[in-house]
Amino acid sequence: IKNFTISNHTEKAYRRVFYGSKNRSTMKKYITIKDIKNIEHTVQEAIQLKKNPYQFENLGKNKTLVMLFFNASLRTRLSTEKAAKSLGMNVMVLNIDDCWDLEYDNGTIMNLTKAEHIKEAANVISQYGDVIAIRIFPTLTNKEKDETEQVLNSFVKYATVPIVNMESATAHPLQALADAITISELKTTSRPKVVLTWAPHPKALPHAVANSFIKIMKEIDVDLLITHPKHYELNSNITKDVPVSHNQEEALKDADFVYAKNWSNYHDYGKIVSVDENWMLTNEKLGNAKFMHCLPVRRNVVVEDAVLDGEYSVVIEQANNRTYAAQIVLKNILKTL
Ligand code: CP
Repeated sequence: IKNFTISNHTEKAYRRVFYGSKNRSTMKKYITIKDIKNIEHTVQEAIQLKKNPYQFENLGKNKTLVMLFFNASLRTRLSTEKAAKSLGMNVMVLNIDDCWDLEYDNGTIMNLTKAEHIKEAANVISQYGDVIAIRIFPTLTNKEKDETEQVLNSFVKYATVPIVNMESATAHPLQALADAITISELKTTSRPKVVLTWAPHPKALPHAVANSFIKIMKEIDVDLLITHPKHYELNSNITKDVPVSHNQEEALKDADFVYAKNWSNYHDYGKIVSVDENWMLTNEKLGNAKFMHCLPVRRNVVVEDAVLDGEYSVVIEQANNRTYAAQIVLKNILKTL
């Protein structure tokens, strides 16, 4: 035990000297945008990393990322795995559908369907992984419960290793970081006008992407405006100090970036209160602005073909930047291990 302690401390001391313990980039976890100490600096770090993605290929040697998916994914799954591997990490993926049903409440008599408690599960996964990344969507039926982020926060509480949020009930910070990187790379004025517009969708969707996008835009030098139909107000704690318009056409005027996203009703929680098909984004409404969307996107429902296939769409660049967002986050977490 003594030897292990000394060698463990020696390795940490070595890492502190080599990578700098007071480095403003280091992170203990990535649950929310607030876990990034300096967004502008991290965005620039990611842009540099993109130019030479293998510059830290040994940092994650002998470290393992465990990715837990409670919900489907294309981009998050592949980009995060690619990011981890470019840092030299091993990656293990567990689809929770293939796993035991977990209990999160304390003191429960577990004589029904839940086979394992989060206390054991999170601690056991920590024996196999040095970082745990989790995707868990909201119920969209119980706002109070969704806002406690019970699953994510239980992993934070009971795991013994850093946790990364790969989209939770209320936040998608990896997507937001990729969005900030994309805007920083493509902006042609020092303070671009960025409009987040609600768009129609046949299914009730979470608020996570919009929440995190607003939060990160508030931290960087942009002129942010939100537009949505009446009754689609988001959480006012998040939209506080951001102008909101119910007139989409007016809001989109002179925009440099237009981010389209559907979200379900926040106050009549998880409901679709109106379809508002005329809120679909068209080339005419977009003008010369760059079009952003986190993907997946429903063509000719959220946005017309001509926009996605047109010269102003940057959705593929955004998806590409998911890799460098994940990589800079993992790199800055690895530096603390
Ligand atoms: N944007 C995004 O998170 O995509 P996936 O749901 O495919 O991971």
